[in-house]
Amino acid sequence: MNLPIRPRRNRRSAAIRSLVRETILHPGDFVQPLFVQEGMQNDAIASMPGVTRWCEKDVISEVLALHEVGVPAVVLFPKIDDSLKTSDAAECHNTAGLIPRVIRAIKAACPDMCVITDIALDPYNADGHDGLVETQPDGSLIILNDETVDVLCQQALCHAAAGADIVSPSDMMDGRVAALRSALDAAGHTDVSILSYSAKYASAYYGPFRGALDSAPKAGDKKTYQMDYANAREAVREILLDEAEGADMVMVKPAGAYLDIIAAVRQHTTLPVAAYQVSGEYLMIESAAAAGWLDRKAIILESLTSIKRAGADIILTYYAKEAAQWLQK
Ligand code: PBG
Repeated sequence: MNLPIRPRRNRRSAAIRSLVRETILHPGDFVQPLFVQEGMQNDAIASMPGVTRWCEKDVISEVLALHEVGVPAVVLFPKIDDSLKTSDAAECHNTAGLIPRVIRAIKAACPDMCVITDIALDPYNADGHDGLVETQPDGSLIILNDETVDVLCQQALCHAAAGADIVSPSDMMDGRVAALRSALDAAGHTDVSILSYSAKYASAYYGPFRGALDSAPKAGDKKTYQMDYANAREAVREILLDEAEGADMVMVKPAGAYLDIIAAVRQHTTLPVAAYQVSGEYLMIESAAAAGWLDRKAIILESLTSIKRAGADIILTYYAKEAAQWLQK
């Protein structure tokens, strides 16, 4: 064939492929989600095989190990005892509570580790919703937006006072980014960043996570606040709103089935874009690999590279530590 243009020349050897590679994963891209609980022991999480729920003492050695392999940030999720769950979710802003204690311990042991906290009420709320709930006479539930935002501000102030670097609202209430920014600034926390879960979809991929924290809604679903997965333009609308309200970084969640959303968001904002490879994505890979159906390491690296290629600067993933170890070699 007379073919002057042969794209295969750029794939001819590992050396050439390395030169022309467009997307390169780096340990510095990753955020490791960490589950924490009260008490002195660590537990395996039944709904997320391979993931640990750490006690306060041992989460510190895990943070140091993450620092060692170059993971720059962790995001904390608490399992709260049922006895502390109330309909006003007041435990979420208890300065002596689990999360503020863990933040202080991490910052004392590993000051360079960026500590991100989740701002939402679900682990603390007796109803299991991200916002405050009002039950109507007919039994239906209303999620109270503005009242919830007040509590989220108290939660963020509690985390900031304990030393959190970034607060990350995952609740999807309207107006929370602006309210968090002004509450943080008024309290002198002008250096605390907001990573907003801007385009967070109502997704079945969160199932295993809710098992990890025992935080599933007791009644109803999250569809009046989390986004309809059929919608893409609405994600751009949410991102632009959060940017205008003062978000420092925005997030798309889940990641793997939402690469089109990541790419669209990337086109519409100059802010750093994060994407969360969530519990259901983790479990799909783990179960297929455990059955011997997929090459686990290859799938993990391909899935993470695809998320970055779509436009994510930051990837929250349960594989952060392991992938960072692989990438170091
Ligand atoms: C809580 C929250 C959820 C996740 C992160 N923060 C669950 C939910 O919204 O129901 C999901 C993370 C995952 O599935 O890995 N606001």
